Amino acid sequence: MLTYGRRNCVGESLARMELYLFITALVQRLQLLPPEGKTLNINEIDGVLGLTHKPKPFEIRAILR
Ligand code: HEM
Repeated sequence: MLTYGRRNCVGESLARMELYLFITALVQRLQLLPPEGKTLNINEIDGVLGLTHKPKPFEIRAILR
């Protein structure tokens, strides 16, 4: 539930549906690969802590399927 205050978010189900559609459309249409000549380290868990814990800057190659 998106609650960081006294009230609930009335847009939560819309936001969840939009995120679902956006992310599934990306995964369906694109092949996500590391940059040419580089390997992907999926064990890399270091990130940048702030309001959220986000990954460090990284590069990817997105190819249309
Ligand atoms: C990832 C997207 C979103 C996040 C993280 C989020 C987060 C929140 C949070 C934490 C609150 C509660 C604030 C409080 O207690 O004062 C809130 C309230 C609210 N949100 Fe969202 N929200 C999102 C998307 C949306 C969308 C898409 C809409 C509308 C289409 C929306 C409309 C509202 C409204 C109108 C309130 C006030 C509800 C009230 O005071 O009764 N939100 N949101």
